[in-house]
Amino acid sequence: MIIATTIKEVREQVAAWKREGLTVGLVPTMGYLHEGHASLVDASVKACDRTVASVFVNPTQFAPGEDLEAYPRDFERDCRILTEHGCDMVFHPAVSEMYYEDAATFVEIQSEMPKQLCGQTRPTHFKGVTTVVAKLFNICTPDKAFFGEKDAQQLAVIRRMVRDLAFGIEIVGCPIVREEDGLAKSSRNTYLNPEERQAALCLSKAIFAGKAMAEAGEKNADAIVAAMTEIVKAEPMAVIDYISAVDGVTMMPVTEIKGNTLFAMAVYIGKTRLIDNFSVEA
Ligand code: PAJ
Repeated sequence: MIIATTIKEVREQVAAWKREGLTVGLVPTMGYLHEGHASLVDASVKACDRTVASVFVNPTQFAPGEDLEAYPRDFERDCRILTEHGCDMVFHPAVSEMYYEDAATFVEIQSEMPKQLCGQTRPTHFKGVTTVVAKLFNICTPDKAFFGEKDAQQLAVIRRMVRDLAFGIEIVGCPIVREEDGLAKSSRNTYLNPEERQAALCLSKAIFAGKAMAEAGEKNADAIVAAMTEIVKAEPMAVIDYISAVDGVTMMPVTEIKGNTLFAMAVYIGKTRLIDNFSVEA
């Protein structure tokens, strides 16, 4: 696997592949990889001739006081996992390679969409995500890019950005990968102590219960949200940030299941903020 740290190296390698007529898949990550990330690499390896993963803890998507410094990092381990899954190149830039000190250009969706759900408590988060992903798209010029449904709002935001700015990149959403007991895999799960790890199961419990209700034909989104809220509230260590039902494309609140509907939640377990979700089609 090629390890690239500069934009120039990535551009030259991708150009060489394209001259050979090969297709390129991109898997953007912040590293500390787990099976969730690996499933995106697998999907890319399957769908594209060459796969590039990026490992970059993007400072612009963290607000002051969030966990930028504490965010777990282990690049050697990441490289082992990427190699095992058939990734062809990893892009691991320094912050100074990605951001000029006086960088003043950002990509921001100016609608209600990035203000919903996670945007309520993280108002600058998605501006950082769209900016870095747009930059990664410009550097790597992939045919397809792979994102997890775990971050459903992020996926919706990126689809909107790609549509609005005509990136010409196919965005592929991949299903949530879970631990055996149901907890959605996340790099942030490493913050949980054993007691918190157990308490964190209230998220997936609520997700599975909500999904079962929807699959049994319940159309009242508020009733599903109420049932999910009750399950999370039963866990003393959990503090709810939000549990909401929204339109799967616009992320705007809905009270009834119509078309693609996303049920999403963010819950604090101790200091750790965890997210989970499921989608249903009416
Ligand atoms: P990160 O949290 O490292 O996630 C990278 C990708 O892996 C995202 O598309 C995310 O949805 C996916 N992912 C994480 N956990 C998953 C799971 N359990 N199952 C399936 N997919 C999972 O998301 C980011 O990084 C950043 O915001 C990024 C897009 C890289 C921009 O900086």
